[in-house]
This record gives sequence, C-alpha cells and structure tokens, in this order.
Amino acid sequence: MKILITGATGSIGKTIVKVLLSKGYRINFLTTSRSKVNFFKGAKGFYWKPNRKEIDSSCFVGIDSIIHLAGYSVSNFWTKSVKKKIMESRLQSTSLLYNEIHKLGDKIQLKSFISASAIGIYESSFKKVHYEKDNLKRKNFLQNVVYEWEREVLKFSKLNFKVTILRIGLVMSKNARFLKAFRLTLNFGIGVIFGKGNQFQPWIHIEDLSSIFLFALNNQLQGVYNAVSPNPVTQSNFIRILSNSINQKCLILNIPSFIIKIFLGEMSCLILNSHNVSSSKIQSQGYKFHYPNLMSALKSFF
Ligand SMILES: NC(=O)c1ccc[n+]([C@@H]2O[C@H](COP(=O)([O-])OP(=O)(O)OC[C@H]3O[C@@H](n4cnc5c(N)ncnc54)[C@H](OP(=O)(O)O)[C@@H]3O)[C@@H](O)[C@H]2O)c1
Repeated sequence: MKILITGATGSIGKTIVKVLLSKGYRINFLTTSRSKVNFFKGAKGFYWKPNRKEIDSSCFVGIDSIIHLAGYSVSNFWTKSVKKKIMESRLQSTSLLYNEIHKLGDKIQLKSFISASAIGIYESSFKKVHYEKDNLKRKNFLQNVVYEWEREVLKFSKLNFKVTILRIGLVMSKNARFLKAFRLTLNFGIGVIFGKGNQFQPWIHIEDLSSIFLFALNNQLQGVYNAVSPNPVTQSNFIRILSNSINQKCLILNIPSFIIKIFLGEMSCLILNSHNVSSSKIQSQGYKFHYPNLMSALKSFF
C-alpha cells in the first residue's frame, strides 16, 4: 500500500512515517522545503507550495491513501500575519490537494483521505464532555481555524473514497517542547499552574496517535473521531502526575489568568481553555489504547 503524507516532517508526521515504513508501507510525502525532499530514508519527497498553488503532481502516482497533517504551527505568537498563515496554510493545502485529485479523476484510485484536526474546535467548558456529534460554535480564532479546516476537508466526501477527520488532543512525545519546559521547571522544584489549573487538557501519547492513523487506514474509518486518551486530566493534575512520574517534589507556582492574558492575549486560550473530550467513539470501533493513563504515558518517556 502506498500512502501520500503532507506535513510528514513535523513532530507527528515523523512518527507516522517511521511506523508505516516499519510495517512495509511505501511512502510519498509533500514538503514546502526543497531541502527536505530527502528528509527520510525510504520515503520519497515531493515539493509543494500551497500558497502559490504549486505541487509536483507525480506525488499522486500509485497512491492508495492520503494522510494530511500540513499546517503552520499554532504555537507561534499570534501576530496578524501568523494568524493568517495558521489559517491559510490549512485551507490552501487542503484545497490544492482537492483540486489536483479532482483533476486526476479516474487516473488515481484513492481509498481514503485521513486528515488531522484539533480538539480546539470545541468550545471551552469546565463541565461539558465533548463528543464528535456536538454542535459547534465559533467563539474564538482557533475554533474558527479548525472549523474552516474541517469544512475544507469534508469537500473530499463528494469524491468516491472514505474521509476521516481526527480531532487531536495535546500530543505527548519525548521531544514535545511543552513537556521539556514543564520538566525543566520541575527540576528546579517548581510546578507551574496556569490560572486555577482546573482546565481539562485532553492528551494523547504519540504512539497511540500514530496507531489511530494506522487503525483508520486499515479499518476504512469514515467521519470524525476524537484522537485523545480516555483519561483527560486537569492542568494541575497534569503537573502533579508529571512530578510524581519523575519523583520530584515541587512547590506550586500559580500564574493568574489575567497575567497570562496580558502576555499572551488571544493566544492564552491555548492554555486557559478547558476541553473534556471523549474517546468513546474510536474505542467503540475497537481501538485499544496503549497508554490510557497519563502516568504510564509519561513513564514511557522518562
Ligand atoms: N502536536 C499537537 O499537539 C497537535 C494537536 C492537535 C492538532 N495538531 C495538528 O496536527 C498537524 C501536525 O501537527 P505537528 O505537531 O506534527 O505539527 P508541526 O510539527 O508543526 O509540523 C507541521 C508540518 O506542516 C508543514 N507546514 C508548515 N507550514 C506550512 C505551510 N505554510 N504550508 C504547508 N505546510 C506547512 C511542515 O512541513 P514541511 O516543512 O515539510 O512542509 C511541518 O513540518 C498540524 O496541522 C497540527 O495543527 C497537532
């Protein structure tokens, strides 16, 4: 089976490529950097520039499925031009793929299109549990980006193959920058809590996330699925479990919400908003989590 992956050189993509190659899949990937076309040993890179509608259409030759991860990082400071890039990188890349696939018609036999999305599409709530079927309201920039991105992806449903959207939570991996930052403060005996710390943070181990992409591929899943572990934690519990996982006692430093809002402005929603997101739909399809609990997930890294 041959898979085309966009955003393959990013933190999630690198793991998915490694897993798929180890299972014998053939891989093409699209990159916006000419210098990265030889990024992976064993996978073939092709250049594209979605904002200029440039794509090397030979990337589609012989492919069975597409995994779409490309998007400018939301963790860059949200200036006006960064916000434009966050939104446009997702919409332009998706619509370029759609137009190319539409043009190719019967020349390619795609079976599925699996796209990343994010739990940031749900509104912030300290009480509600979010399910895929929820009505969506667009109250902030992030919700708007993810909503528009999914709307662009859903256009693929008009074509004759399965379309899957995975709403991803905070991805835990050994190299995740936020994990390194929290760990660093804990090494100095300080656990940082944002606001009251009662906001829910749905998270997922990178190994489970790559397995869910594979599961979606192999089981021809269709529709929207939350890609989060079954046990989301509040931010203060996250710090408590992280400090226990490395046997490091800590003093808690609460940074009040208003200070965070002064420094991060609109972007503060990334750390202050609360999302309690259910994983029941993907589990009801038969997916079994390798890391359902945060402690075991963290212990796999440290
Ligand atoms: N990591 C998380 O916790 C998380 C959570 C929820 C959702 N997601 C979503 O999952 C996707 C993958 O996440 P990630 O953490 O792997 O992201 P990442 O490390 O930032 O990588 C994203 C990749 O997208 C490509 N890209 C960047 N800017 C682009 C642009 N302007 N046009 C087209 N492609 C561009 C880059 O590949 P090239 O340089 O090779 O082009 C980059 O390696 C993202 O869309 C992200 O929003 C991630």
